[in-house]
Amino acid sequence: MALAYSGGLDTTVAIHWLRNKFNAEVITVTVDVGQDDDFEEIERRAYATGASKHVYVDAKSGFANGPVAMAIMANALYEDKYPLGTALARPLIAEKVIEVARREGCDAVAHGSTSKGNDQVRFNETLMALAPDIAIIEPAKIWGMDRASEIDYAKKHGIPIPSIHSRFSIDDNLWSRSIEGREIDDPLAEVPEDAFKWTVSPESVREPLILDIEFREGLPVAINGEKMDLVGIITTLNRVVGAHGFGRVDHVENRVVGFKSREVYEAPAALTLIEAHRDLEKLVYTPLEYRFKRVVDQTWTDLVYQGLWHEPLREELESLVRAMNRWVSGKVRVKVLGGLAILGRESPYASYSKELVDYVGGWYPSEEEARGFIKMHTMHSLTAFRARRKVVTP
Ligand code: ARG
Repeated sequence: MALAYSGGLDTTVAIHWLRNKFNAEVITVTVDVGQDDDFEEIERRAYATGASKHVYVDAKSGFANGPVAMAIMANALYEDKYPLGTALARPLIAEKVIEVARREGCDAVAHGSTSKGNDQVRFNETLMALAPDIAIIEPAKIWGMDRASEIDYAKKHGIPIPSIHSRFSIDDNLWSRSIEGREIDDPLAEVPEDAFKWTVSPESVREPLILDIEFREGLPVAINGEKMDLVGIITTLNRVVGAHGFGRVDHVENRVVGFKSREVYEAPAALTLIEAHRDLEKLVYTPLEYRFKRVVDQTWTDLVYQGLWHEPLREELESLVRAMNRWVSGKVRVKVLGGLAILGRESPYASYSKELVDYVGGWYPSEEEARGFIKMHTMHSLTAFRARRKVVTP
């Protein structure tokens, strides 16, 4: 069988447990979506624990240019806050694991999801869509071990325990770092500073950072005039924006699985790019486009969060999102200083006219034109208002 292998304690114990329980060969598959990990060490750990083969898949560029690019164009923030890093990566990870499973002739795929998270839904949905003939095995739902018993199990069987593990449950990739569990489960408790890794405390920042972010057809292509690919832009922004104290999210999130959880994230690049992109869209779009797109964006974001990656509406919405982003080119200037401020923006497709807005010397409707407009613009409302108040029209 193929095991989606993160290299953490759960999936490391799983290698050994699966071999014992099913008397099967375990092929570990680690999909690199930009997480902060030592992939050579992960490979060594897999073999040391009994993997018959380990496969590393570099999916960074596919992740950035696929799901993440769409998330930028769709301004994807679940419940206005969470940039969806984990939710975007799970279907791709599952897809890559299936590819390896097929190549190696596996009849089962295993992954480490528990029965309380959203990730089980995302993983299984993709497996059910693309590999209905392959069995799904979820050891963490069967063995009933907690962290302490996993460590006992590892010690008993001589399994190498991952050295650096945070006391929180962490899931990270290019797009966001999620921090869950322990004292953070109390929604009133302030998140301890040592939970953060990508961002410094906003209060500690003195020097502002000014960035010009250039977009072409909805996607960032350069920072301060320097052209970079999407992976480069995201990693650069995570570093420099995080170092200037912006990129933290703390909210109570409505999970798919029926309860709320307190969720903390770090996502300096994601939050910066989405804020800038949304600003540029507002410069370019008509009010109708702008308002309609918010509905489209939110629908796309919700279905991705909910693990419905293969819901047909996703691709239909994406065609529209792509089409509307054809006009989202230009530049946004931002300032980062323990927060983010937009300083200015420009676009060749701006539907903004200085001539129209200018009070001195620009276009001016005459008194008559303005009165006529206001009269007809308010007519529906005021006719109803008068009827209901029984006010006699003069
Ligand atoms: N709450 C986020 C989500 O549902 C983050 C999940 C993090 N996953 C994890 N296995 N630690 O997408």
